[in-house]
Amino acid sequence: MTLIFAHRGYSAKYPENTMKAFKEAEKAGADGIELDVQLTKDGEIVVIHDEKVDRTTNGTGYVIDFTFEELRKLDAGHKKSLLKKEPIPSLREVLEWLKTNNLKCNIEIKSNLATFMKIEQPVISMVQEFGLSDRIIISSFNHYSLVYCYRIAPEIEIAPLYAEGLYMPWVYAESIRAKGMHPKFKVAPNEIIKASMEYGIDVRPYTVNKEKEMRRLFEIGCTAFITDDPVLALKIRKEY
Ligand code: G3P
Ligand code: CA
Repeated sequence: MTLIFAHRGYSAKYPENTMKAFKEAEKAGADGIELDVQLTKDGEIVVIHDEKVDRTTNGTGYVIDFTFEELRKLDAGHKKSLLKKEPIPSLREVLEWLKTNNLKCNIEIKSNLATFMKIEQPVISMVQEFGLSDRIIISSFNHYSLVYCYRIAPEIEIAPLYAEGLYMPWVYAESIRAKGMHPKFKVAPNEIIKASMEYGIDVRPYTVNKEKEMRRLFEIGCTAFITDDPVLALKIRKEY
Protein backbone atom coordinates (compact mmCIF):
# COMPACT_ATOMS: atom_id res chain seq x y z
CA MET A 1 0.00 0.00 0.00
CA THR A 2 1.23 3.47 -0.88
CA LEU A 3 1.65 5.42 2.35
CA ILE A 4 0.49 9.02 2.74
CA PHE A 5 2.69 11.60 4.48
CA ALA A 6 1.10 14.93 5.37
CA HIS A 7 3.44 17.68 4.19
CA ARG A 8 4.09 20.12 7.07
CA GLY A 9 1.03 18.43 8.59
CA TYR A 10 -2.41 18.84 7.02
CA SER A 11 -1.16 22.09 5.53
CA ALA A 12 -3.81 22.39 2.82
CA LYS A 13 -6.24 23.34 5.59
CA TYR A 14 -4.26 24.25 8.72
CA PRO A 15 -1.20 26.41 9.39
CA GLU A 16 1.87 24.52 8.25
CA ASN A 17 4.29 22.97 10.74
CA THR A 18 2.03 23.50 13.77
CA MET A 19 0.74 20.98 16.28
CA LYS A 20 -2.75 21.71 14.96
CA ALA A 21 -1.73 20.67 11.42
CA PHE A 22 0.00 17.51 12.71
CA LYS A 23 -2.92 16.50 14.91
CA GLU A 24 -5.43 17.07 12.11
CA ALA A 25 -3.32 14.90 9.79
CA GLU A 26 -3.40 12.11 12.34
CA LYS A 27 -7.15 12.53 12.90
CA ALA A 28 -7.69 12.31 9.14
CA GLY A 29 -5.85 8.98 9.04
CA ALA A 30 -2.52 9.89 7.41
CA ASP A 31 0.25 7.31 7.79
CA GLY A 32 2.86 9.90 8.58
CA ILE A 33 3.78 13.56 8.75
CA GLU A 34 6.59 15.57 7.25
CA LEU A 35 8.10 18.57 9.04
CA ASP A 36 11.04 20.95 8.72
CA VAL A 37 13.54 21.79 11.45
CA GLN A 38 15.77 24.79 12.06
CA LEU A 39 18.12 25.81 14.84
CA THR A 40 17.48 28.76 17.22
CA LYS A 41 20.07 31.14 18.64
CA ASP A 42 20.14 29.16 21.90
CA GLY A 43 20.43 25.74 20.22
CA GLU A 44 16.81 24.59 20.37
CA ILE A 45 15.41 22.62 17.42
CA VAL A 46 12.22 24.22 16.15
CA VAL A 47 9.72 23.19 13.53
CA ILE A 48 9.54 25.83 10.83
CA HIS A 49 10.20 25.72 7.11
CA ASP A 50 11.85 29.03 6.23
CA GLU A 51 15.08 30.51 7.54
CA LYS A 52 12.97 33.58 8.38
CA VAL A 53 9.78 33.76 10.43
CA ASP A 54 8.14 36.37 8.17
CA ARG A 55 6.03 34.20 5.84
CA THR A 56 4.45 31.93 8.45
CA THR A 57 4.24 34.04 11.62
CA ASN A 58 3.41 37.55 12.79
CA GLY A 59 7.13 38.25 13.40
CA THR A 60 10.08 39.27 11.27
CA GLY A 61 13.70 38.13 11.15
CA TYR A 62 15.86 35.02 10.98
CA VAL A 63 15.06 31.99 13.17
CA ILE A 64 18.73 31.76 14.14
CA ASP A 65 18.54 35.27 15.66
CA PHE A 66 15.70 34.32 18.06
CA THR A 67 15.94 32.40 21.32
CA PHE A 68 13.35 29.66 21.73
CA GLU A 69 11.50 31.73 24.31
CA GLU A 70 11.27 34.66 21.92
CA LEU A 71 10.07 32.46 19.07
CA ARG A 72 7.33 30.94 21.22
CA LYS A 73 5.70 34.35 21.55
CA LEU A 74 5.04 34.44 17.80
CA ASP A 75 1.83 33.19 16.25
CA ALA A 76 2.30 30.65 13.44
CA GLY A 77 -1.44 30.33 12.96
CA HIS A 78 -2.61 33.84 12.28
CA LYS A 79 -2.30 33.63 8.49
CA LYS A 80 -4.93 30.88 8.41
CA SER A 81 -7.19 32.93 10.68
CA LEU A 82 -7.29 30.45 13.51
CA LEU A 83 -9.04 31.81 16.57
CA LYS A 84 -6.50 30.17 18.85
CA LYS A 85 -2.85 31.20 18.75
CA GLU A 86 -0.60 28.45 17.35
CA PRO A 87 2.99 28.61 18.52
CA ILE A 88 5.99 27.36 16.56
CA PRO A 89 6.50 23.85 17.99
CA SER A 90 9.81 22.53 19.24
CA LEU A 91 10.89 19.19 17.82
CA ARG A 92 10.73 17.86 21.38
CA GLU A 93 7.03 18.71 21.58
CA VAL A 94 6.32 16.86 18.33
CA LEU A 95 8.29 13.79 19.39
CA GLU A 96 6.48 13.70 22.74
CA TRP A 97 3.19 13.69 20.85
CA LEU A 98 4.44 11.02 18.40
CA LYS A 99 4.93 8.73 21.40
CA THR A 100 1.14 8.80 21.86
CA ASN A 101 0.38 7.49 18.35
CA ASN A 102 1.84 5.28 15.62
CA LEU A 103 2.56 7.87 12.95
CA LYS A 104 5.74 7.80 10.94
CA CYS A 105 7.60 11.07 10.79
CA ASN A 106 9.84 12.52 8.11
CA ILE A 107 12.10 15.16 9.65
CA GLU A 108 13.57 17.41 6.99
CA ILE A 109 16.76 19.01 8.27
CA LYS A 110 17.26 22.48 6.84
CA SER A 111 21.03 22.47 6.97
CA ASN A 112 23.44 24.94 5.42
CA LEU A 113 27.09 25.89 5.91
CA ALA A 114 26.24 27.82 9.08
CA THR A 115 24.27 25.01 10.74
CA PHE A 116 26.03 21.90 9.36
CA MET A 117 27.28 19.73 12.26
CA LYS A 118 25.32 21.87 14.73
CA ILE A 119 21.77 20.80 13.95
CA GLU A 120 22.16 17.08 13.11
CA GLN A 121 23.41 15.77 16.48
CA PRO A 122 20.67 17.37 18.61
CA VAL A 123 17.97 16.10 16.23
CA ILE A 124 19.35 12.57 16.35
CA SER A 125 19.89 12.58 20.12
CA MET A 126 16.28 13.58 20.63
CA VAL A 127 14.96 10.87 18.29
CA GLN A 128 17.05 8.31 20.19
CA GLU A 129 15.97 9.67 23.59
CA PHE A 130 12.32 9.13 22.62
CA GLY A 131 13.02 5.68 21.21
CA LEU A 132 11.62 6.68 17.84
CA SER A 133 14.49 5.64 15.57
CA ASP A 134 12.37 3.07 13.71
CA ARG A 135 9.58 5.54 12.89
CA ILE A 136 11.71 8.44 11.72
CA ILE A 137 13.11 9.18 8.27
CA ILE A 138 15.58 12.04 8.11
CA SER A 139 15.66 13.86 4.79
CA SER A 140 17.49 16.91 3.49
CA PHE A 141 18.41 18.71 0.29
CA ASN A 142 21.86 18.86 1.87
CA HIS A 143 23.03 15.32 1.26
CA TYR A 144 26.25 15.96 3.17
CA SER A 145 24.08 16.50 6.21
CA LEU A 146 22.53 13.06 5.65
CA VAL A 147 25.95 11.43 5.36
CA TYR A 148 26.82 13.01 8.68
CA CYS A 149 23.54 11.78 10.25
CA TYR A 150 24.32 8.26 9.06
CA ARG A 151 27.74 8.46 10.62
CA ILE A 152 26.22 9.40 13.99
CA ALA A 153 23.23 7.05 13.87
CA PRO A 154 23.23 4.39 11.13
CA GLU A 155 20.03 2.91 12.60
CA ILE A 156 17.97 5.96 11.57
CA GLU A 157 16.84 5.98 7.96
CA ILE A 158 18.05 8.78 5.71
CA ALA A 159 16.54 9.86 2.38
CA PRO A 160 17.94 12.49 -0.02
CA LEU A 161 15.60 15.16 -1.32
CA TYR A 162 16.19 16.32 -4.88
CA ALA A 163 14.40 18.46 -7.42
CA GLU A 164 16.49 17.94 -10.57
CA GLY A 165 16.78 14.73 -12.58
CA LEU A 166 19.58 12.46 -11.30
CA TYR A 167 21.21 9.74 -13.38
CA MET A 168 20.26 6.40 -11.76
CA PRO A 169 19.09 8.00 -8.48
CA TRP A 170 18.59 4.57 -6.89
CA VAL A 171 22.32 3.80 -7.14
CA TYR A 172 23.12 7.29 -5.90
CA ALA A 173 20.86 6.70 -2.88
CA GLU A 174 22.63 3.43 -2.12
CA SER A 175 26.01 5.17 -2.41
CA ILE A 176 25.13 7.46 0.50
CA ARG A 177 23.56 4.52 2.42
CA ALA A 178 20.01 5.81 2.00
CA LYS A 179 17.25 3.20 1.92
CA GLY A 180 14.89 5.64 0.29
CA MET A 181 14.78 8.84 -1.74
CA HIS A 182 12.42 11.82 -1.91
CA PRO A 183 12.31 13.28 -5.44
CA LYS A 184 10.16 16.17 -6.55
CA PHE A 185 7.29 14.32 -8.27
CA LYS A 186 8.13 15.94 -11.62
CA VAL A 187 11.51 14.18 -11.70
CA ALA A 188 10.01 10.85 -10.63
CA PRO A 189 8.45 9.27 -13.72
CA ASN A 190 7.13 5.73 -13.42
CA GLU A 191 10.24 4.12 -14.92
CA ILE A 192 12.48 5.75 -12.29
CA ILE A 193 10.15 4.76 -9.45
CA LYS A 194 9.91 1.16 -10.69
CA ALA A 195 13.66 0.80 -11.24
CA SER A 196 14.38 2.22 -7.79
CA MET A 197 11.89 -0.01 -6.02
CA GLU A 198 13.12 -3.08 -7.90
CA TYR A 199 16.62 -2.20 -6.73
CA GLY A 200 15.34 -2.00 -3.15
CA ILE A 201 15.19 1.75 -2.71
CA ASP A 202 11.94 3.25 -1.37
CA VAL A 203 10.54 6.25 -3.23
CA ARG A 204 8.45 8.99 -1.62
CA PRO A 205 7.85 11.83 -4.10
CA TYR A 206 6.85 15.34 -2.97
CA THR A 207 4.65 17.44 -3.02
CA VAL A 208 1.81 15.56 -4.65
CA ASN A 209 -1.42 17.55 -4.51
CA LYS A 210 -3.19 16.77 -7.78
CA GLU A 211 -5.58 13.86 -8.06
CA LYS A 212 -4.06 12.71 -11.38
CA GLU A 213 -0.57 12.47 -9.87
CA MET A 214 -1.88 10.69 -6.77
CA ARG A 215 -3.61 8.11 -8.97
CA ARG A 216 -0.42 7.52 -10.98
CA LEU A 217 1.48 6.75 -7.76
CA PHE A 218 -1.24 4.51 -6.31
CA GLU A 219 -1.43 2.62 -9.62
CA ILE A 220 2.26 1.74 -9.68
CA GLY A 221 2.37 1.02 -5.93
CA CYS A 222 4.93 3.70 -5.11
CA THR A 223 6.24 3.36 -1.54
CA ALA A 224 4.63 6.61 -0.33
CA PHE A 225 4.12 10.22 -1.27
CA ILE A 226 4.13 13.53 0.54
CA THR A 227 1.06 15.73 0.17
CA ASP A 228 -0.46 18.91 1.60
CA ASP A 229 -3.88 17.25 1.37
CA PRO A 230 -3.92 13.88 3.15
CA VAL A 231 -7.74 13.89 3.15
CA LEU A 232 -7.92 13.92 -0.64
CA ALA A 233 -5.16 11.30 -0.87
CA LEU A 234 -6.93 9.00 1.61
CA LYS A 235 -10.22 9.33 -0.24
CA ILE A 236 -8.58 8.35 -3.54
CA ARG A 237 -6.56 5.51 -1.98
CA LYS A 238 -9.80 3.74 -1.03
CA GLU A 239 -10.30 3.01 -4.74
CA TYR A 240 -7.06 1.03 -5.01
O1 G3P B 1 9.75 16.66 1.92
C1 G3P B 1 9.46 17.25 0.72
C2 G3P B 1 9.38 18.73 0.78
O2 G3P B 1 9.02 19.14 2.05
C3 G3P B 1 10.63 19.40 0.35
O3 G3P B 1 10.46 20.72 0.02
O4 G3P B 1 10.49 23.11 0.38
O5 G3P B 1 8.50 21.84 1.04
O6 G3P B 1 10.59 21.66 2.36
P1 G3P B 1 9.99 21.87 1.00
CA1 CA C 1 10.01 19.99 3.88
